[in-house]
Amino acid sequence: MSEEGIKLMDKILVLDFGGQYSQLIARKVRELNVYAEIRSCRTTGIPEVLSEGYKGMIFSGGPDSVYAEGSPTTDAGMLDIGIPVLGICYGAQLIAHLSGGKVSPAYDGGEYGRTAVVADGSELFEGVPKKSICWMSHTDFISEVPHGVRTTACTDKCPCAAFADSERKIYGLQFHPEVTHTEYGQVILSNFVHGICGCDSSWKMEDHLKSTVARYSEELAGKKVLLGLSGGVDSSVVAALLHRAAGENLYCVFVDHGLLRKNERELVEKAFRPRLGDHLIVADARARFLGKLQGVRDPETKRKIIGEQFIRIFEDEARRIGHLDVLAQGTIYPDVIESGKGDSAVIKSHHNVGGLPKDIGFTSIAEPLRDLFKDEVRAVGELLGLPKELVWRQPFPGPGLAVRVIGEITEEKLDLLRDADAIFREEVDKLESRPSQYFAVLTDTESVGVKGDARAYGYTVALRAVGTDDFMTADWFRLPYETLETASGRITAEIPSVTRVVYDISSKPPATVEWE
Ligand code: XMP
Repeated sequence: MSEEGIKLMDKILVLDFGGQYSQLIARKVRELNVYAEIRSCRTTGIPEVLSEGYKGMIFSGGPDSVYAEGSPTTDAGMLDIGIPVLGICYGAQLIAHLSGGKVSPAYDGGEYGRTAVVADGSELFEGVPKKSICWMSHTDFISEVPHGVRTTACTDKCPCAAFADSERKIYGLQFHPEVTHTEYGQVILSNFVHGICGCDSSWKMEDHLKSTVARYSEELAGKKVLLGLSGGVDSSVVAALLHRAAGENLYCVFVDHGLLRKNERELVEKAFRPRLGDHLIVADARARFLGKLQGVRDPETKRKIIGEQFIRIFEDEARRIGHLDVLAQGTIYPDVIESGKGDSAVIKSHHNVGGLPKDIGFTSIAEPLRDLFKDEVRAVGELLGLPKELVWRQPFPGPGLAVRVIGEITEEKLDLLRDADAIFREEVDKLESRPSQYFAVLTDTESVGVKGDARAYGYTVALRAVGTDDFMTADWFRLPYETLETASGRITAEIPSVTRVVYDISSKPPATVEWE
């Protein structure tokens, strides 16, 4: 969908008050085929809402108390613009506060987690049984609803778990409909965006893809475009999309730094060579990277060297192609929001690339995925016919295996880790329920073992698997013992220099996902 198209489409504003679930709210609305965008309460007021023509607003949650000094707020007039408003958690408390109701600290510490809720079946709860389970996370609660507002749901501890002012179309939910633990969360959100706001379901990936291709075909006509292709989901989808739009004018540079997973380069070449022909440029920089990393043990120094080398190679390749006009980037919507500059084009200082190429003379940047969440990017990738292995792959850090070979990096260690990692991934891939990220690490510890009849001194491989929604926090994944057993058995049998395999059972925090 072009920017013009998005402007004309029915859309919902998620006004962000600093809640950890703001992105999730927007994603859940989009799953209902209604376009939703997130804007900060600090920069978005009545004029911005009016000029964008939203059909409804959702006030997000937030960690503050509405009474605390400096807590995020909005103009009370936002409730009288004439479009429906739904407040969630802090958002609901703020509506109550701004409308003359009362918010108080819960004397017994609040409610957290799965909670039974009783709802009255009014417009927000159509199709929701009287009793269901919702997800609560609050310390303050609405102790007095504003005049003219009625309570529409309650829990054992919370006398006002939801409220409604049907005339002004203003609603509040103390619980979180956007999290999966709320059984009827999507029904409630659909009641709001479809039923109350009257949005139609016009946000479809097929249409978005078609109009994005049409827009870029026009904008990129006669221009040469360069893309750094990492083999990750985002840059792969950009490559396939811009190939449709720019055809022969697209050049993709893939840097093989020798720190890739097993068969990574082959996978990228197989997917893109048939599309791009010799416009897929594979820079073989394995020796250069290994040389620069020789003897380096410190993780941050490794990252810095890799970032710098990456950008130098990218620049060299760009100069070789010559006369490039546009730099394409795999920026996605969470990057735009997190950079805090949702309204203007941001050049992503991509940690995988380590800075922007200098002296190439780019006149503009193309970011065809900047309106999309990761799941939507994957959907576009599928529509573009990319292989499932590329579209559904787990995240992989830009510095690659360099941060998974603990301590000094050597070619022997990289090869060994590649094999161990491939075995582990192969075994985990057999499971129906898979972790968010799973990989092998080569620890810096050698340990004694027995192989055959002899004592052996060999490497220790650690296996890591985590479950997470956002990678900010992560839980170690309870893999079945059988999977761990097979992976461990295969690794020690197939890689003679490994004598020991351990499983990492640390969560984040305090550990990080990667070991370095
Ligand atoms: P941590 O280790 O910080 O990882 O808990 C969170 C997520 O970020 C990935 N990661 C990186 N990605 N460059 C990247 O592009 C990096 O230097 C880097 N370090 C960690 C990690 O794989 C996980 O998905």
